[in-house]
Amino acid sequence: MTSRRLILTRGAALVGTASSSLLLSGIARAQPAKVRVGFMLPYTGTYAQLGVAIENGFRMAIDEQGGKLGGREIEYFKVDDESEPSKAIENANKLVQRDKVDVLVGTVHSGVQMGIQKVARESGVLSLIPNAGVLAATRSLCAPNVFRTSFTNSQPTLALGQPMVARGHKKAVWITWKYAAGDDAFEGFKESYTKAGGTIIKELGLPFPQVEFQALLTEIAALKPDAVACFFAGGGAAKFIRDYAAAGLKGKIPLYGSGFLTEGVLQAAGPAAEGIITTLHYSDSLNTPRNHTFRLDYAKTFRSQPDVYAVQGYDTGLLLAQGANAVKGDLNNKAVLYKALEGAVIDSPRGKWTMSKAHNPVQDIYLRQVQNGENKVIGIAAKALADSGAGCKMA
Ligand code: PHB
Repeated sequence: MTSRRLILTRGAALVGTASSSLLLSGIARAQPAKVRVGFMLPYTGTYAQLGVAIENGFRMAIDEQGGKLGGREIEYFKVDDESEPSKAIENANKLVQRDKVDVLVGTVHSGVQMGIQKVARESGVLSLIPNAGVLAATRSLCAPNVFRTSFTNSQPTLALGQPMVARGHKKAVWITWKYAAGDDAFEGFKESYTKAGGTIIKELGLPFPQVEFQALLTEIAALKPDAVACFFAGGGAAKFIRDYAAAGLKGKIPLYGSGFLTEGVLQAAGPAAEGIITTLHYSDSLNTPRNHTFRLDYAKTFRSQPDVYAVQGYDTGLLLAQGANAVKGDLNNKAVLYKALEGAVIDSPRGKWTMSKAHNPVQDIYLRQVQNGENKVIGIAAKALADSGAGCKMA
């Protein structure tokens, strides 16, 4: 007897007994497998808060969809990537090979993202980048299964040079952590600042995630530039802002930055942050009904204030939900899924954005200033800014 026939016979036998209703209700309750979603994020170290905000935002978007993706329940898997590039491939494979996730959501740190990108390109797993802005991910190493919901590191700084020069600051010092994100941010700053007529008199740097800023701040004081521009984020950014003020530079040499400098750190930085001007694709104070609702809901759910990272996590959930709905939960229907993700219009708290051909947001960049402990919008630094996507050839 074939096994199929055996099952049928057994079924028939069951139907013939008092168990028939049990069997039928079992069939009625048969559910498609859960969607396996893997978070690869920093939950320890200087970027720990960023990872938490991204996960919170993502879960909030999914909860707004009734907790499902394309009608399917979700099972979550988590790996702490520690913002440690040397462990990135191993960590990504924990999710892809061991946990067999359908979608990998990660990460924050550009160096770690390069490991994820390799695993994503080799495995073909759907990879959604909720922060890391490393240029290569949506330029030379772009891939059909990789979509970014955040920014490239040069997007905010491409909008920073002009407002600095417009305020009369023609000689600047640049300072950053020396790793991919800082280098990419510098690329945007150099282009925009020199184009606007400014001169970068010195580039300073220290290895990620070091926070011994003292010697560099002494050097800045001696150089006497018109202004300082920088890329720092997370816990290190809060310390940089405090140390800048403690070194006596605040009020003497205006501090500018890629907007991550003042995201999620304003409480920790305190009065030292007042007056800092930055450029970013989000601001707490965006006066739109969409942003108000988002901020209220987030604060109620998580008892903390959302920042750009929470928004990016939220938008990652919105994007995935749009894709999953387009394929009615069948994430293996890749042609239709990718087309939906490429064509998505995300109604974000940051404002509506679309996906570029290279799979990176086309978005407005706001000019913000810290006023009374909040990032206030003081202008639009760039409208619908797209990354160049240079060298991207989709396979
Ligand atoms: C990055 O490594 O790409 C990165 C990290 C933190 C940020 C922004 C970019 O806030």
